[in-house]
Amino acid sequence: MDIKLIRLQTHGDERGSLISLEHNSNIHFDIKRVYYMFNTRDDVRRGCHAHRHLKQLVVAVRGSCRFTLDNGQERIELLLDNPAQGLLLDSMIWREMHEFSEDCVLMVLADQVYDETDYVRSYNDYIEIMKREFWNVTA
Ligand code: TYD
Repeated sequence: MDIKLIRLQTHGDERGSLISLEHNSNIHFDIKRVYYMFNTRDDVRRGCHAHRHLKQLVVAVRGSCRFTLDNGQERIELLLDNPAQGLLLDSMIWREMHEFSEDCVLMVLADQVYDETDYVRSYNDYIEIMKREFWNVTA
């Protein structure tokens, strides 16, 4: 699956901790947009889409949430609960976020500005695109 968990270097001293996200240092794409989710209810699922082209790095800067990640062939679950851990999501990964802790702040760095046409919001459409464009399945 085209995902990676990367360790983000923490600069810490007796005053506290600091993590820097910097182009060509630990972020290997052009950062065009940053957004963050907070005050998310713990009984909701967010995401539930894939992106045709977008690449993202996701960091739980505070609290935690679970990710369900799916490439149409395998599905994995992971917990993001560490501000020193970045989840790198390539394009065409189906993602769902759930079980947000009350204090969760989920920050996302993206390599494109917001573009609704880049979203695939139906899982059936996602599988059809994967079959047609990535698995070369003709039926
Ligand atoms: P939405 O795509 O539903 O969030 P998610 O699928 O990750 O749970 O986005 C919620 C709203 O915010 C929707 O009206 C679109 C808007 N939005 C922006 O304006 N800019 C952005 O960068 C993002 C991610 C969303």
